[in-house]
Formats: sequence, C-alpha cells, structure tokens
Amino acid sequence: MILPIVGYGNSILRKVAKDIDQDYPNLKELIDNMYETMYNASGIGLAAPQIDLSIRLIVIDADALKENYPEAENFKKVFINPQIVEESGEKWLFEEGCLSLPNIHEEVSRHSIVKVRYYDEDFIEREETFQGAKARVFQHEYDHLEGKVFVDRISPLKKTLLKRKLNNISEGKVQTSYRMKRPKA
Ligand code: CO
Repeated sequence: MILPIVGYGNSILRKVAKDIDQDYPNLKELIDNMYETMYNASGIGLAAPQIDLSIRLIVIDADALKENYPEAENFKKVFINPQIVEESGEKWLFEEGCLSLPNIHEEVSRHSIVKVRYYDEDFIEREETFQGAKARVFQHEYDHLEGKVFVDRISPLKKTLLKRKLNNISEGKVQTSYRMKRPKA
C-alpha cells in the first residue's frame, strides 16, 4: 500500500523517533508499504517519520545511484533502531534531496564513513561500516530519526534563499508525482 508522505513543516519531522521491539504490530507489512511508497516516489530511502510514524525504522535501496557511485549497487537494507557508533573519514559534498522536501536539492557536507549498529528486519543485531554514497544515504535517513532534515545542514544564507520554497511545502502548495499528507490546518 502506498502511503502519503509527510512534508517539511510537519512537527513529526522534528521529533526524535522511538525504538520499537519485535512485537511492533504488522512490522513486515509496514516495511513492505514503506518500500512501495519509496519506489512509487522514485526515492532511494525513506524513514518512518516521513510516513507519519515516529519510530526508528528506515528502508533504503540506493541501487539507482550505482552509475556514479558503484558502491551503492545492491545497497538495499532495512534498519531498525539504528544508532551511529562513529563517523569518520573526510567530509565531502553530495547533492541531497528528500521526498519530504520536493524540488529542493542542495549540497550537504558529511563524513564519508559511518559505523552503525542496528537490527535487521529479522531483529538480528548487526554492526556495519558504510562508505561513500552508502554512508551518505544512511546518514540522510538517520537524520530523520533525530528530528533533522538536510536543509538544517546548509549555510544560513542558502537556507534563507530557500525560505519561500520551504514555506510553500509547509502550506501544501507544491506539485509532486506522489501523494503528500495534507498539512495540519
Ligand atoms: Co529525507
């Protein structure tokens, strides 16, 4: 089932999301729905707050980046209750976008390596290190669980220049090929 996507300006995108446990109701179905929603919107990652659930759950499929970023090939993973253990490596710029911030693309600087502890969809605990585009996609989605979005990481001047676009998204005045959740009145 395709779910509507929450837009910038909705307070759920500003909350720190909560851990879930194995008994979380219909988890497999929720993961399937998140993938379906993400693919329908041509996204490469989706975090639960973006579908109006303040829980620590992320789905990623970054395979579409493989032409420019070979490391992203077959990078398809579910992250439950992820925590960043360590970020390292040089900071680098990468142009990010977000299904919750349609029509906005900005270069963001982040570390190139991230070490992550998380549970997979079978609730097996894992620790992995990602580099390059894999790290980048994860870091972007992880921000959503911490109540952050990528425009929080650009310069104040650049953010000012986006003010009108951001206001329009907050007010639901934006055209998208996918359904967005109507902003609260
Ligand atoms: Co996003």
